Amino acid sequence: MTDKFAIFGNPVAQSKSPPIHQQFAEQFGLQIEYSRIFSTDEQFVDDLKRFFTDGAAGCNVTAPFKEQAFQCCDKLTEKAARARAVNTVFKNPDNTLLGHNSDGVGLVTDIVNNKQVTIGNRHIMILGAGGATRGILEPIIAEHPASITLVNRTVARAESLAAEFADLYTIQVTSTTQPEYVQTPDLLINATSASLSANVPLEDTGVLGANTACYDLSYAEQPTSFLQWANAHGASQCIDGKGMLVEQAANSFFVWTGHTPETTGVIRWLEQNCGK
Ligand code: ATR
Repeated sequence: MTDKFAIFGNPVAQSKSPPIHQQFAEQFGLQIEYSRIFSTDEQFVDDLKRFFTDGAAGCNVTAPFKEQAFQCCDKLTEKAARARAVNTVFKNPDNTLLGHNSDGVGLVTDIVNNKQVTIGNRHIMILGAGGATRGILEPIIAEHPASITLVNRTVARAESLAAEFADLYTIQVTSTTQPEYVQTPDLLINATSASLSANVPLEDTGVLGANTACYDLSYAEQPTSFLQWANAHGASQCIDGKGMLVEQAANSFFVWTGHTPETTGVIRWLEQNCGK
């Protein structure tokens, strides 16, 4: 039997999720059909529900529908509940929809396992306080860092996000425009959407120490504007989000099939085929 999956997004034509999941399925001899579904804010919930009543097994959800997916799933995993966003939907045997979020797991797996960058007991700085940051905070906290500082253009947004996670961790907050740092970060993560418009979210280069690794959740064929900035100002490592994309897909695939795919070869494939 061929199980049906898809990714919902707007835009979605650029998504690499279909070939990534096909490569995972081949590893286990599974037959899957994985398509791209373009939707709109008005149609998304109806499109999603129809996809499952037509017999689909699961789907991924990308921008701008992760919050709507969070709202319309019947049940949520703890990770989705914390993130207040769903990027993975699974149909339970009783036909209810379970919403999960694999973004943070994907990021942490790529950072720690693939790139061998330690989070535990290290100082972590995150640029941005929007949905992307909310999605990655819980798995980062679970690694027991020495500190987490949120740096955002709109400080009030960072403060309210820090308050949401206060039961798990005491997060420091500062501003991108008038930053006051306590610690030089060991790891600086760009979770703003600034790379999408070729902007750099932080002007102050004094934040980078000789041992600061920089990670951009975004990726492109060429280094992102943030990673160009990081490289020019002495970051010890510059890593983009291709590995995160493959690892979040692997976690979704596990949720749907119970199989844990091998990711190294798929990340290599994405690095070679990113702009194609
Ligand atoms: P996402 O779901 O991608 O996180 P979002 O919730 O709109 O999208 O959040 C975007 C984040 O990128 C915010 O932290 C935003 O800062 P503000 O809260 O001040 O708006 C940040 N951001 C976007 N463009 C930026 C830029 N050019 N410079 C600095 N920060 C930027």
